[in-house]
Amino acid sequence: MQNSVFQPFAIEQYMSENENAVEYHFAESGVHPLTFAQLFELAEVDTQSLFATLVDYPQVNGLLSLREKIARMYTGATADNVLVTIGASEANTLVAATLLRPGDNMIRLRPTYEQLSGNAVNLGFEVRTVDMIESEGWALDSDSLRQATDKDTRIIHVVNPNNPTGRILSEQDRQALIASADSVGAWIVADEVYAGTELNSDTPTPSFWGEYERVVAVNSMSKAYGLPGLRLGWLVAPTSTVEECWRRHEYTSIAATIFSMKLADHALTETAREKLRARARQLIRRGFDTFTTALNSHPGIFSVVPPQASAMSFPKFDLPISSEELARRLLKEEDVLVIPGTKFGIENHFRFSSALLEDHLQAGLNRFNRLITKVLFGD
Ligand SMILES: Cc1ncc(COP(=O)(O)O)c(C=O)c1O
Repeated sequence: MQNSVFQPFAIEQYMSENENAVEYHFAESGVHPLTFAQLFELAEVDTQSLFATLVDYPQVNGLLSLREKIARMYTGATADNVLVTIGASEANTLVAATLLRPGDNMIRLRPTYEQLSGNAVNLGFEVRTVDMIESEGWALDSDSLRQATDKDTRIIHVVNPNNPTGRILSEQDRQALIASADSVGAWIVADEVYAGTELNSDTPTPSFWGEYERVVAVNSMSKAYGLPGLRLGWLVAPTSTVEECWRRHEYTSIAATIFSMKLADHALTETAREKLRARARQLIRRGFDTFTTALNSHPGIFSVVPPQASAMSFPKFDLPISSEELARRLLKEEDVLVIPGTKFGIENHFRFSSALLEDHLQAGLNRFNRLITKVLFGD
């Protein structure tokens, strides 16, 4: 099955076409990343033994010590439940190709990061959309989810904590999602890359893994650990599903790089992991405060459901221009990159990432404020 019209990945296309020359990049979803030097110091990397590593093909499903460390973060999982991938991106792509069978449909919750659903569309599968309820803090519409789910529903996809809203499902919503999946034996594919980046707690958002038997949990080094350039992610699933994904991984990439696996292995020792998450949370909390101050300087124009995790928020605005036009003008007139809400299928919103170095953030927000004033007072 192949969809005849290829659907590009709208937000990633928008970023990759615009991010390389921009001065104030507020469209990224992660925290300000570390340098190699910072990582080596923080994770106490023994460079001599790292440099003595053969630049050989690594173990295809992931180095055993790395998979063991990942498994320890999931109750009851072992290294055999883990497949190491090129970022969460490859994991999501493998999962779509592995789980969906002819005649299946999948459900996505909107707004979301549309990687799994985009893959499903391009493979020719039906994707059903259930809108989250903004006026209730982006809560799950469990009635709509129940109605959208039928015997052919193979995957319910959830990004938790969410991209772009930064919201975390309430316990009631988690249970409603599990109940819908369980009613038809569907899989829950939980993209949990923002777990560990909470604003109001130092305890990471719990995984769906272990709460229901048909769960694939996806995660990576890109967000909570501030290491997106490693391009290192994983999926955790029942062993038979891991093996099916692994067979596809042999086609897509063979393996993640040996260098990234080695560095992830260092970064995920318990001490380094905690330090990296603490660093991310600090950037996130301070950055969101600074961003909120900027939004509040335009009374009545912006409203935002406060994010509970992630570097991002998804403010709503009351301006006489569309989100595409706002983003276009910010980029052209102020060299500031944000993501228009339409890239998530929602108008009058934009996604903004604020977990950046304070001076840079403040300087970019001054540009942002200037453009908003121009829009409001006509210029
Ligand atoms: C929800 C979500 N999943 C996956 C990814 C891709 O992550 P990675 O860098 O691990 O490929 C992103 C990146 O923005 C994301 O927001």
